[in-house]
Amino acid sequence: MKPASLRCEYLSNPLGLDVLQPRLSWMLPLPEDGHRGAGQSAWQVLAASSPERLAAGNADLWDTGRVEGDASVQIRYAGQPLASRVRVWWKVRVWDETGAASEWSDPAQWEMGLLEKGDWQAEWIGAPLAGGRRAQIPVPYLRKEFTLEREVARARLYITARGLYECSLNGEPVGDSVFAPGWTDYRKRIQYQVHDVTALLRPGANALGAILGDGWYCGYLGWFQRQFYGERPSLLAQLEVEFTDGTRSVLATDGTWKTAFGPILEADFLMGETYDARHELPGWDRPGFDAAAWNAALVLPDEGALRVAMRGTPVRRQGQIAPITRSVVGNDRIFDFGQNLAGRVRIKVTAPAGTTLRLRHAEVLNADGTLYLDNLRGARATDYYTCKGSGEEVWEPRFTFHGFRYVEVNGLPGEPAADVVTAIVLHSDMEPTGQFTCSDPLLNQLQKNIHWGQRGNFIDVPTDCPQRDERLGWTGDAQVFIRTAAFNFNVAPFFTKWQNDVADSQSPSGEIPMVIPNVILSSTIAAEMHPPDGGPAWSDAAVICPWTVYLCYGDTALLAEHYATLQRFVHSLEAASIQHIRSHPDADAWGGFGDWLALDGSPGCEGGTPKDLIGTAFFAYSTRLLSRIAALLGKEADAARYAALFETVRAAYQHRYLTPGGLVASGTQTAYVLTLHFDLAPEAQRPALLKELVRAIERNGNKLSTGFVGTSYLPHVLTRGGRIDVAYRLLHQKQWPSWLYAVTQGATTIWERWDGWTKERGFQDKGMNSFNHYAYGAIGEWLTTTVAGLEIDPAAPAYKHAIIRPQPGGGLTQARASLKTQYGEICSGWECDGQTLSLEVTVPPNTTATVYVPAKAGAGVTESGRPAESAPGVTAAGWEAGAALYHVGSGTYRFAAAAPEDMAS
Ligand code: BGC
Repeated sequence: MKPASLRCEYLSNPLGLDVLQPRLSWMLPLPEDGHRGAGQSAWQVLAASSPERLAAGNADLWDTGRVEGDASVQIRYAGQPLASRVRVWWKVRVWDETGAASEWSDPAQWEMGLLEKGDWQAEWIGAPLAGGRRAQIPVPYLRKEFTLEREVARARLYITARGLYECSLNGEPVGDSVFAPGWTDYRKRIQYQVHDVTALLRPGANALGAILGDGWYCGYLGWFQRQFYGERPSLLAQLEVEFTDGTRSVLATDGTWKTAFGPILEADFLMGETYDARHELPGWDRPGFDAAAWNAALVLPDEGALRVAMRGTPVRRQGQIAPITRSVVGNDRIFDFGQNLAGRVRIKVTAPAGTTLRLRHAEVLNADGTLYLDNLRGARATDYYTCKGSGEEVWEPRFTFHGFRYVEVNGLPGEPAADVVTAIVLHSDMEPTGQFTCSDPLLNQLQKNIHWGQRGNFIDVPTDCPQRDERLGWTGDAQVFIRTAAFNFNVAPFFTKWQNDVADSQSPSGEIPMVIPNVILSSTIAAEMHPPDGGPAWSDAAVICPWTVYLCYGDTALLAEHYATLQRFVHSLEAASIQHIRSHPDADAWGGFGDWLALDGSPGCEGGTPKDLIGTAFFAYSTRLLSRIAALLGKEADAARYAALFETVRAAYQHRYLTPGGLVASGTQTAYVLTLHFDLAPEAQRPALLKELVRAIERNGNKLSTGFVGTSYLPHVLTRGGRIDVAYRLLHQKQWPSWLYAVTQGATTIWERWDGWTKERGFQDKGMNSFNHYAYGAIGEWLTTTVAGLEIDPAAPAYKHAIIRPQPGGGLTQARASLKTQYGEICSGWECDGQTLSLEVTVPPNTTATVYVPAKAGAGVTESGRPAESAPGVTAAGWEAGAALYHVGSGTYRFAAAAPEDMAS
């Protein structure tokens, strides 16, 4: 048993960390002989400053010695202090459950970034200012030629931009990330990246080049104008070279660099990119280029933002899609990629010099086959390419992306070849981890749409939508979807980075805004719109998101790092509430977004559930989570204090909203859902409340009427209350509002609104009608935890102890979910042929699970053909609500039982 998949801060061999005590993890492989209960009883990590030392067992940085226990994730490095640039090689061995020692793992490594401000010699440089609040600017090219006299042993490029950068060395691209350095509040924090460029350098003449896009820094942002953070893009880069003779040299950005404008006439996320190939600068990033006509770069002031190593993973190209059909509309050709996505289109064209192609992007078509563009609002989402006329030309924009399924190309000469356009999919490079399938093709398409909804909106920050002039880090959307997101992909690095953005966005008095990075409140246009508070269910993302990262990945470090932010947030709720009612109507403040887009209110977006009810429910919930977090971090006094505050808020909630007869005052579905999900009612009242919720659904024609706030919890509440039949009815509902309505209309992503398009009314309000908005995709959590049955035990998070509890129903005959956890792949798949229900379960090494096999009380359950209670590695643990319980260790198990009554044929 040799440990594998060594990770540091969730990443494989990361380059450039500034976490002083990074966390390590490893996986144990499934034993080859398939024996059950494989685990770890002890472990040892060695870390050394060179591969030779590590191989020789000379752990000059860290030798843990043998540590008893089964910990294999979130292991905090506690060796010699790590300085800037230090490279650490490490390996691990374990002792298995019998006490036998494993081989040493293969070595892994990580490297520290620049930890001190004094490590930086580089200055910010840029081009002369062009453009303004409304007028865009051409993309500056920057270059520097230099000579290396000796053989290079190792070279690192430390680089960032205010704006976006792409960089090349001797004509070769450096790295493959897109939209680096990523989006942070650039006034407070700027991430740099580290690239190993050893192989790109050579003795003699070399050239380093960079081009700068506006991006989030100074391009159009949201529905505001340009130049939110600054007036022009700038570059900061430092190339550090170590020669084989032990000497070093540093080349840093400064006033000796040269700059010029080139073929990219404008580049903007929302508006698009314009490229004139006739202005290309062949050889500009290679040595020997004649830059006599270039200007000296301008040195620009540092504005004091923290320089930090990148957290999370960069945006990268994630695949390409060929069109499935094309049509001719007037002079234009419209290509359908068959999938709504975020990214851009690469073109391949042969045309005379000066021919200009125009590419417009849309998510849906009008009835007459033209692009439906109204919902893009102020986003022009149009790219232009002008040919240089030298044979086949291939072009992909660099500094823009669009949300689209269709592209319309204008200006194509003649009948274009099949591969004239290709869609390039872009998003943060998250490791795909989860899969769900079942016997209903519509639900499988729904799951696919959820997946694509995430892909289209995890672009460095969790955005609401990728197409219109918005694309902001809406906190409410992120909070409702994070648990689903953590199934589809490993989002621990992504949300670790975003939690820093959350902290940066907190007001001095503790409020958390509605979008993060916070651009709404600091924008002059929007300054009067709202107080510095995202409102209930939005700002609460500050607590809910790190809590979910803890549940899914066992990450207590994130909780500890941000504990003070969470506390300040809860204190701000306490201060703003009146008699513990948050968003109290008597408070002279904005009350939040309500149950956004619920269909149970008067016209408008906020739904019929009172804002103060939602506010107080989330006040209680955030406070309760904070109490649990405090307990986890060993802060007992805080835990008690917040537990008491939770009780006080709950009492206030009961006093104001619950009737003694078992109703919730407003009577909306969401009001019942929140009361039940957050445990706000006395236990004895729960059955009556649940009954009322079911009645409210039935009164509505077996349809939900919930918005962003109530929808994600609704099926969980019904399941917990013993009415999973109603949850399945809602799941299978095909009339709107429902999850499957959009699927029946051919959707390939999740729509923002239940009724984004209907036969009766056509398109919903063009001012807010995205067809790629992941919030309602939060149903994914229920599909995987309940339909397939892969659930986390909060007492042993990250699936260290899993609850495998499929709850079949709704006419499904089969469902299966698998998830790559930090311990290995966990899987639950059930099937029912009308006679027998079989359940196949895989539990990764070094973890355990409690399996609920749906069965009649007292009826026989088998595992791999034997009575389950006598199967190896299986311990019977009684019966509970229609299921036989078993405790198991790692391994694969095949349970079978007579089909439950409602599934028997
Ligand atoms: C966004 C949402 C967001 C909402 C706030 C919209 O414009 O697209 O998804 O949560 O505003 O209510």
